[in-house]
Amino acid sequence: MEKGAVKIAPSILAADFARLGQQVVEAEQGGADRIHVDVMDGHFVPNLSMGAVIVQSLRRVTRLPLEIHLMISDPDSFLDEFVAAGSDSFLVHWEGNNNLHRTVQKIRTLGKRAAVAINPATPSAVLEEIVQDLDQVLVMTVDPGFGHQQFIRATLPKIERVRELTERHKPGCDVEVDGGIDATTAPLVVRAGATVLVAGSAIFGDRDGVASAMKRLRAAIDHAKDETELVGQTASQRSR
Ligand code: DX5
Ligand code: ZN
Repeated sequence: MEKGAVKIAPSILAADFARLGQQVVEAEQGGADRIHVDVMDGHFVPNLSMGAVIVQSLRRVTRLPLEIHLMISDPDSFLDEFVAAGSDSFLVHWEGNNNLHRTVQKIRTLGKRAAVAINPATPSAVLEEIVQDLDQVLVMTVDPGFGHQQFIRATLPKIERVRELTERHKPGCDVEVDGGIDATTAPLVVRAGATVLVAGSAIFGDRDGVASAMKRLRAAIDHAKDETELVGQTASQRSR
């Protein structure tokens, strides 16, 4: 993978909602690749957040793709509304969905990018029968429901397994991680094979502002990629 290919998806859950438009513009100017919107229903996860009306407002201030992380019990019933509001992709959970294939097909029929998310306690193997239909998978690196939680290190080997699985069954499928990502944990997930990093509090909760937070996270990612490429080169040189 070429340098810079790792994408950053700032999660607006940690933004100041009184200044949401401005903060998203700052993230875009700082090099964000997409905007991550966390939707919670107080049932699938024990927290409430936001609905399609926020997407509608954001659509007017940014050209970045808007990815919608649906942490809700009945994702199928809300897809049309979110598409009408201007959403570009949907991340739906494996957990609690008895008809995941149907949900994914509905997203594809609507012409949007489809991703399946798995919680920290869910094994990577559940993705095997669905990955062919996906543009992206999402490995949760915290239990969903809240921002500003501590990164769960035990998810690192799973990120590696998920990357192997996507390479095997659906090359080019993005491997996204979400929860507790900052300049310290970013290099770990990049080395494990993540290609898209969601970051909420590390971007919008930074005292020095969004621009400086974006710069710091990008530098941490690039540093890790340089290292990975160097190790890769050494290994291939050795095998010659
Ligand atoms: C958690 C959400 C995350 C959250 C990440 O349920 O899915 O997207 O906003 O927040 P941080 O980056 O602060 O852990
Ligand atoms: Zn999320």
